[in-house]
Amino acid sequence: MRGRGWEPWEPGRKLPLPGLPRVIAHRGASAAAPENTLAAFRLAAERGAAMVELDTRLARDGVPVVIHDSTLDRTTDGHGRVLASDSERIALLDAGAWFDPRFRGERVPTLEQALELLARLGLAVNVELKADAGEERRTGAEVARLVARAWPADGPPVLLSSFAEEALDAARRAVPELPRGLLRERAGPDWRVAMERLACTTLHLGRAHLDAATLRELRREAVPVLVYTVNDPQEARRLFDHGVRAVFSDVPEVIAPVAPPLPHAWS
Ligand code: G3P
Ligand code: CA
Repeated sequence: MRGRGWEPWEPGRKLPLPGLPRVIAHRGASAAAPENTLAAFRLAAERGAAMVELDTRLARDGVPVVIHDSTLDRTTDGHGRVLASDSERIALLDAGAWFDPRFRGERVPTLEQALELLARLGLAVNVELKADAGEERRTGAEVARLVARAWPADGPPVLLSSFAEEALDAARRAVPELPRGLLRERAGPDWRVAMERLACTTLHLGRAHLDAATLRELRREAVPVLVYTVNDPQEARRLFDHGVRAVFSDVPEVIAPVAPPLPHAWS
């Protein structure tokens, strides 16, 4: 499951991360299609993306579904907490019309349905674990086991990530060989300790709080840094110049042209 070059980060050791592109389609091609739907993933592929990020959380019956918020209200025609609805009921909701009537009929995919499509399209995937308070460990373990079962062993890279360190820890215990990314709004003083404790490969940081000193430190330590959510090509260029390995974008086709090529052996 973990290819060579996707081992946990170690201070100063540069990981090639083969198959990780410069630009990751954030929630799919989410500026042009409803986020986290199969339509958004297909459109990302059509627009040239090689990898997508998606959000997953557990429904009441324990089935991981692909949705960002803890409630159904913003991105479907349903209401209430995802955790309070069974996946079969969630599957009946419309997840497209809120974005544009053209997408009426799009559904909230299960994680399994999304992985099946992404593997068929040959896209790499970053599965972000979302969990309500108290659900972190169950989510991490369930999702890791599902990914290990559903993702082809010879497929493109798959990377788990989470703001919830408990979820990453449970994923590590369930399927240690699945690469993990520590996800934080800002690196914080303990990023090194957390990366090592959770045996993470990558560090995913918010763009809003990133400063040049932090980026210099992370570059010195050879940490693979992935930054979200970058929709301005000039900002992306600056981040790449500072050693950022990849960015998440709602408009991957706008960012891709400014991304520097990867060394041949890394792509
Ligand atoms: O994984 C990067 C980014 O997606 C984290 O923030 O709120 O968009 O899930 P959010
Ligand atoms: Ca996300």
